[in-house]
Amino acid sequence: MTNNQFTADFQQLFGHPAQGLSVAPGRVNLIGEFTDYNLGYVLPCALNFSTQVLFKTRDDKQVVVYSNNYPGEQDSFSIDNDIAQGDSQWGNYIRAVVYVLKKRGYALGGIELLISSDVPQGAGLSSSAALEVSIAGAFNQAFNLRIDTKTIALIGQQAENEFMHCQCGIMDQLISAQAEAGHALKIDCDDLSTEKVLIPEDLNLVIVNSNYPRKLVESEYNQRRLDCEGAAQKMQVSSLRQANLALLEQTKAVLTENEYKRAFHVLSENQRVVDTVTALANNSMDDLRDLLAASHQSLRDNFEVTVPATDGLVDIISRALEGKGAVRMTGGGFGGAVICLCRDDEIAVVKAAVEREYQPKFDLHADIFVCQAGTGLAVNTVS
Ligand code: GLA
Repeated sequence: MTNNQFTADFQQLFGHPAQGLSVAPGRVNLIGEFTDYNLGYVLPCALNFSTQVLFKTRDDKQVVVYSNNYPGEQDSFSIDNDIAQGDSQWGNYIRAVVYVLKKRGYALGGIELLISSDVPQGAGLSSSAALEVSIAGAFNQAFNLRIDTKTIALIGQQAENEFMHCQCGIMDQLISAQAEAGHALKIDCDDLSTEKVLIPEDLNLVIVNSNYPRKLVESEYNQRRLDCEGAAQKMQVSSLRQANLALLEQTKAVLTENEYKRAFHVLSENQRVVDTVTALANNSMDDLRDLLAASHQSLRDNFEVTVPATDGLVDIISRALEGKGAVRMTGGGFGGAVICLCRDDEIAVVKAAVEREYQPKFDLHADIFVCQAGTGLAVNTVS
């Protein structure tokens, strides 16, 4: 959809032009999975898929929202009332952000919002973080709240934790708020400090969405988090960031098998993030391949968040690449997408192998996207 069409849609719905446009991207995580809520390291980059929000303040206290992704639907509520769950799931993300902004004491007024997103949904590419961050960005600008990008990310995470009841970490919202083009961001989730990591120009980000129907994602996700917290508690550390593999082995006898396996994944994955930063600096495909393969194996065997469809995609792609690329599942697991890092010549090889082997084996169609690392939240006035 062209921007012109989008602004015309706003004009048609509300009878006047928008005053601003807030844009926030989805993300792909290169490595560092399920480490964020254990205060470890992650290495995501933003995608050039994003959620766009056109907005204009109102004279009353109503929030009125439409989405081009859900034609004919609308959500509206008064910011003066307690913010409760509404009828639509997508509308609840807007309510969640408003709920947190109010809770934090920001002075808000009524606003008109029109949303449009091309972030694939249910693919583990953070369409919900893109929505939360773009909405927070719109309110920030519309009501001159002066919220910095780190706080915008924290507001998005709090919206997930307290209103959507998903106990996610900070990775998705922080990369969506702070990404820089051409770079991944190494985030230290302990103090939220970040380091820009250049993605070599000849390295392609190929994302393959399994389209596996994700089920029980939130309950399983929250259970993994509880396992990790249980392990930390028994190791007598405040988070797994304070633990190490030696301590884990010493404490093994008092941990449940799941607690041990989850903690083993997290501790080894943190080291793989550090090593991947070096591998990217050296543009070493051999190292990237080994690190991503080890990450996937650990997510499959220790964290147990892969499904046959994502294991199958990783297997199909790594066999086709014959060592000339790196691949693993990415994001929250239980389906979703795999990320493949490879040179130009290998893109066609990956596409051909997926098209040839995936559908017959899993009876699902995979979507393949070749992406660039995009920029984070941008809010501008509309002239
Ligand atoms: C989801 C969550 C993130 C992170 C990943 C797994 O995307 O939203 O906070 O925990 O899963 O790495």
